[in-house]
Amino acid sequence: MRTPLVMGNWKLNGTKGSVRALIKDFETTAQAAKNVQVAVFPPTIFIDQVAVLVEKTCIEWGAQDISTNVSGAYTGETSPMMVKEFGAKYSLVGHSERRQYHNETDQIVAAKFVTIQKHGLVPVLCIGETLEQREKNETTQVVESQLKAVVELAGIKALGNCVIAYEPVWAIGTGKVATSEQAQEVHAHIRLWLSKQDKSVADKVQILYGGSVKASSAKELFEQEDIDGGLVGGAALIAEEFIGIINGAK
Ligand code: 13P
Repeated sequence: MRTPLVMGNWKLNGTKGSVRALIKDFETTAQAAKNVQVAVFPPTIFIDQVAVLVEKTCIEWGAQDISTNVSGAYTGETSPMMVKEFGAKYSLVGHSERRQYHNETDQIVAAKFVTIQKHGLVPVLCIGETLEQREKNETTQVVESQLKAVVELAGIKALGNCVIAYEPVWAIGTGKVATSEQAQEVHAHIRLWLSKQDKSVADKVQILYGGSVKASSAKELFEQEDIDGGLVGGAALIAEEFIGIINGAK
């Protein structure tokens, strides 16, 4: 039995005031949902604030991105060691917005994945196809090659200590959520691909769906056999929506 996991990726949003209010608003729900793990990914500037706000709760948090370097002359980067010191549990890696706007290749993503684990953090590996790739029936090929790059560098066992987020690019921020059947089909394929290499890894790894998840669509998505929760963007910034999504995972 895999524990349901709901993650909020705040991307480049928030103020000190909105961060405080948002956590206060969904904290009680997160605490009450004993069988659901809840985590948030604040912008780096709010990490210290979030670490303090969630300290006495079951809410966990992670970095949206980390550097492959631990320290040195790397202007603007965030070190895995630094976020770990503040109490991070996770780091996202391979988000399509990083792949698209920061030219992160599968090889860079794999290197970051290894760095994240090396520093005692759990990678949340984001994979997914673009609309063009889906229309050309390349979805399974794309997710397999994204996974393969990580397996080649980190080894299959390393995927037993990560979270995988299937985020079809065409569903991110578009309001166009994948249907539960579409999402389940890809999740099942990911698990099958993993199981061919290591069944225990495939059985254990939490595979989240991301892309326009809302309170209204969460429950049906999370009821699918291979969907273990969600990585939520826009709706994670609205307390009422995020609360509904956590409740949908119970
Ligand atoms: P939206 O929920 O806003 O579509 O974003 C999904 C996402 O990219 C989470 O990482």
